[in-house]
Amino acid sequence: MSQSLSGKIALVTGGSRGIGAAIVRRLAADGAAVAFTYSSSEARAKAVVEELETAGGRVLSIHADSADAQAVRGAVSLTVNRFGGLDILVSNAGILIRNPLDDYSLEDFDRMFAVNVRAVFVGVQAAARHMKEGGRVITIGSVTAERSGFPTSAVYSMTKGAIASMTRGLARDLGPRGITVNNIQPGPTVTEMNPNEEDHERLKPLMALGRLGEDREIAGLAAYLASEEAGFVTGASLTIDGGYLA
Ligand SMILES: NC(=O)c1ccc[n+]([C@@H]2O[C@H](COP(=O)([O-])OP(=O)(O)OC[C@H]3O[C@@H](n4cnc5c(N)ncnc54)[C@H](OP(=O)(O)O)[C@@H]3O)[C@@H](O)[C@H]2O)c1
Repeated sequence: MSQSLSGKIALVTGGSRGIGAAIVRRLAADGAAVAFTYSSSEARAKAVVEELETAGGRVLSIHADSADAQAVRGAVSLTVNRFGGLDILVSNAGILIRNPLDDYSLEDFDRMFAVNVRAVFVGVQAAARHMKEGGRVITIGSVTAERSGFPTSAVYSMTKGAIASMTRGLARDLGPRGITVNNIQPGPTVTEMNPNEEDHERLKPLMALGRLGEDREIAGLAAYLASEEAGFVTGASLTIDGGYLA
């Protein structure tokens, strides 16, 4: 097993399940001490911690709703206090609220923005204060920043477009300190955000590879961006979508 992240400390938002949990598993397998947040899946978060501690990993789960800026800042502080620093932030927590245009409430709009965009900014702002040269910020955007694809996804697409442009700006802010900032844009990936088998069948012909992605495949790209080897990659939005945009 590779231990390329040995000695590194990571915080992953939304690590209790899905892509975030796969990233937690992969960073821990690569040798990092990993903290992760969750908002409602306490039992799932505990299971991830137990699994990785049994395998010899250093893991911490933190209850922190991304919509609450203080909770996000608190998660950064807890990580630093427990593990002694912070080298890698993966801003993964995200929600998808789809509704027809006529029925889309401003409450849902604000919640989408708070979790998918504002929390990312707040997390990076807090984390960067602790990062040294070689630090890594990774955001999880979406191909929807470039192709909405279907009705009812305007607000979600907007949040992911904001992440892509925020990533470029943050790369400029943090580049002079030797910290890279990159955005992963997954295409349709099998998780609970994308649970419907009928949707999968509808999507498959749109993918060059004829299948949806797996969470561990997205985690592989996150592990690369977190590694020393990726030191010259910054400000990039990297699409990993099985050819959905091709
Ligand atoms: N699946 C896809 O096809 C796809 C494609 C492109 C991009 N993405 C992006 O990838 C990221 C992960 O998505 P996923 O598919 O893995 O989704 P998921 O299976 O629904 O998992 C979402 C994760 O985020 C956490 N989370 C949700 N709301 C939160 C909040 N307010 N505060 C803290 N944590 C919160 C959840 O924890 P709790 O259960 O505890 O709330 C869970 O761990 C998201 O940013 C999503 O937009 C997904």
